[in-house]
Amino acid sequence: MIYFDHASTSHPKAPGVARAMLEILERGCFNINRGGYSGAYGVAALVFEAREKIAALFDCPSARQVVFTGGLTQSLNMALKGLLRPGDSVVATQMEHNAVVRPLAQLKAQGVGVEFARCGRDGRLDLADMESRITGRTRLVVMSQASNVCGVILPVREVGGICRERGVPLLVDCAQTAGVIPVSMRRDNIDLLAFSGHKGLLGPQGLGGLVLSQKIADEMVPLVAGGTGSHSHKADMPAELPDRLEAGTLNLPGIAALSAALDYINETGLDRIYAREMALLDRLATGLKAIPGARLAGPEDPADKCAVAALDFPGLDNAEVAARLDEEFGIMTRCGLHCAPAAHEALGTFPRGLVRCSLGHKNTEAEVDEFLAALSRITGGR
Ligand SMILES: Cc1ncc(COP(=O)(O)O)c(C=O)c1O
Repeated sequence: MIYFDHASTSHPKAPGVARAMLEILERGCFNINRGGYSGAYGVAALVFEAREKIAALFDCPSARQVVFTGGLTQSLNMALKGLLRPGDSVVATQMEHNAVVRPLAQLKAQGVGVEFARCGRDGRLDLADMESRITGRTRLVVMSQASNVCGVILPVREVGGICRERGVPLLVDCAQTAGVIPVSMRRDNIDLLAFSGHKGLLGPQGLGGLVLSQKIADEMVPLVAGGTGSHSHKADMPAELPDRLEAGTLNLPGIAALSAALDYINETGLDRIYAREMALLDRLATGLKAIPGARLAGPEDPADKCAVAALDFPGLDNAEVAARLDEEFGIMTRCGLHCAPAAHEALGTFPRGLVRCSLGHKNTEAEVDEFLAALSRITGGR
């Protein structure tokens, strides 16, 4: 079997992830902030270390600003629904995932103005269009760092500069880039960053996070309220991070595992992971040129993308191509709209969808070659 669906979730997980999860469960997965005994303090130290690793990865000033959540979708809902009020306006991009689009649709029904900045046929963001949509009512700009459909990297730093000038906070969805492409909250003027633990960070599902400044957190209504083990005499959620946004027991086995995955990523180096994925993408893109029946959607230059190749097969049914890849060749890709219909509208592939092949740094040249050979067979050399 060949796994080419890393944009959905990573496989295999980083070495040490399964062991770390098992170890904490066997050793004592005690609840932090709630137990005055050494076992609980030990787990608290482990969680704090994990926060420190995340803060370092995203160049955020303090580990306290790292809030763990049940996943990226939850992080985005927390940020959007915590900040936006009726009468506010928000600017997003056409490349956004439904994890942004659907909460925004709910907020729109409550009186929030929602604007989507245009993207071109190659997926690139029209920066001027985005800027023109920012008005005095704009409370937030939200964007992905890279599209999960075609891999295009969006200009976070430029948008960060615009947001700084206009005094509007910026929320970045790092689903497709965390653990592969560097991002700096300080340098890029990112006020809130949402990440997933199970994609490029190579950890388990059921864990993600939101990294944000205390100033922004002060302005947010916590989406979930409950016990934090701190300020227990008060009915209100504590003011300070991370407790303000971390009600309830954390996913401690997940955090221990993610921490082990972060060690692996740090030891390997983002630059090496990125270079490896780009080498594979390059091989795929070059090989594809010899298959006339296949077309690559999104930007031509692999340097403008993360390791996602979205393929169109004019004259064939894309869903059938993906099904044949799986059934006849054991190659796992993902066909359809990838939870981002507006991105497909921009790319001109709505509603038929694309066959998405997303690579991980553990894939091999031989696997890419097998994929290309399979495509040649399926397209009949056309
Ligand atoms: C760009 C983007 N944002 C958000 C998400 C949602 O992530 P999760 O399902 O892990 O919450 C995904 C998942 O594919 C994604 O690609």
